[in-house]
Amino acid sequence: MIVNMFASEIDTPALVVDLNVMERNLQRVARYARDHGLRLRPHTKTHKSTRIGRRQLEGGAAGLTVAKVGEAEVMLGAEPADLLVAYPVIGRTKLTRLMEVARRTRVTVAVDSLFAARQISDAAREAEVDVGILAEFDAGFGRVGVAPGEPLVALALSIARLPRISLEGLAFYPGHIKSTDEEGLADLEQVARIVESVLADFRRADIEPRIVSGGSTPTLFHSHRVRGLNEIRPGTYVYNDLSTVRSGACALEDCAATLHCTVVSTARPGQMIIDGGSKTFSSDRLPNTAEPIFGYLMEAPAARFFKMNEEHGYVDISKAETEFSVGDRVRIVPNHVCAAVNLHDQVYGIRGDRVEEVWQVEGRGKLQ
Ligand SMILES: Cc1ncc(COP(=O)(O)O)c(C=O)c1O
Repeated sequence: MIVNMFASEIDTPALVVDLNVMERNLQRVARYARDHGLRLRPHTKTHKSTRIGRRQLEGGAAGLTVAKVGEAEVMLGAEPADLLVAYPVIGRTKLTRLMEVARRTRVTVAVDSLFAARQISDAAREAEVDVGILAEFDAGFGRVGVAPGEPLVALALSIARLPRISLEGLAFYPGHIKSTDEEGLADLEQVARIVESVLADFRRADIEPRIVSGGSTPTLFHSHRVRGLNEIRPGTYVYNDLSTVRSGACALEDCAATLHCTVVSTARPGQMIIDGGSKTFSSDRLPNTAEPIFGYLMEAPAARFFKMNEEHGYVDISKAETEFSVGDRVRIVPNHVCAAVNLHDQVYGIRGDRVEEVWQVEGRGKLQ
């Protein structure tokens, strides 16, 4: 929707994206991927909007990534040539729906069990479609993914024998690396060694993984250090957030998304209440710190957004650089933008002080 209003007229609380910053983020990552010969299949979990998915594809992304079948259904609207579901899809109901998606575009699923692969194979056979599979291994995060070595090779060999699914390659997610300081880079080097040993195992087993898919936003611009990696799936980079700033992967000026809120109370000295709480921001904390803050106030960096109820945000302004009154507006960079986006129906895209477009977050709340 094209609109004609000033940013200051947007009713609050609202999710607002600076289009210049978002476009710069998209271009920077597309260029990095191109320069390093990496396939880019961005995770849409951050924006959850077909409009942004389309822009990623127009910018050179080879396909899109989702976590949920419901998100895959939504992202068909961006007309990707290829959709990766980077989450184990378990159960008949979901698989029946996923096969409908697979009738409309190429679908690949990351799996870490023969159980999941068999179910997908059965569903694909019934629906008479073909589905790609990535065998997922754990590169240190300790979430999903089989252990590198024999269990991974065994899984890959079993997948290769199942009908209507084809083993396209490997997937991992370095979600345990939240910084690119010395320690973060040492952890990434450890991931690189794991990937190398996995690829050596596969050569010995005579399996050629066409795709080796990894990559997250904190490690984004160091992805080329992981030898053998040929696909990245960053999600957060489109908007970035305070966690990304703290990880060192971007600067504050690279945060495209802010929550615009209104000051609704200054009754208590040294404190203001804003009209956004956990229903606006989510309750996610910053990783690697006990610091209880829920975002960064652009208008007053020394103000401390320290507590939330559902509709109330508590901001300590005792040390703030600015005085605040009821009715003032503030812009806040959230800790975790993906979780915040999921709470909003729509996004206001601004350029300068004008709202240029408003788009829907069609993938919000798609839990199944
Ligand atoms: C499997 C998987 N791949 C890629 C991503 C994207 O990571 P980031 O948001 O750090 O870019 C995520 C994020 O949660 C993920 O779970």
